[in-house]
Amino acid sequence: MDKLLNAMKIAFASEFAFYLKAHVFHWNVEGADFNDFHQMFGDIYAEVYGAIDPFAENIRKLDAYVPGKFQEMSMISGADIEVEVPPAMEMVAILLDDNEKLTKLMGMVYKMADAAGEYGLANFLAERQDAHRKHGWMLRATLKQTGRI
Ligand SMILES: [Fe+2]
Repeated sequence: MDKLLNAMKIAFASEFAFYLKAHVFHWNVEGADFNDFHQMFGDIYAEVYGAIDPFAENIRKLDAYVPGKFQEMSMISGADIEVEVPPAMEMVAILLDDNEKLTKLMGMVYKMADAAGEYGLANFLAERQDAHRKHGWMLRATLKQTGRI
């Protein structure tokens, strides 16, 4: 159970860091296609934000506290909480990279939850993986226009 709990904390902090990055990109993006990027980052942050509360509550259901310090969140997610302002397509590439890691991470934690007999939690993680698959599609389709991938 400790391994599952630690993995859940890592997944939660990574999800939170991804949410924050997408929201800051939504605010700070600039360029000719501003509206398209602003909207896409908006769709992503809103979807991920909707998962933050159930994510935290799933940690509480395992009888543990939710990490509450920015420094701690930054450390366990392995993500830098400070968000830079790169060009729009670079923002897309950064989110795609983070999103791929999150998609894999959700699958890994899913397997741990399933093995521990935590089937409700496994369902939640399966849905998170699927949501990240969809974000990956949107981000990849946007980057493909540029020939970067
Ligand atoms: Fe907004």
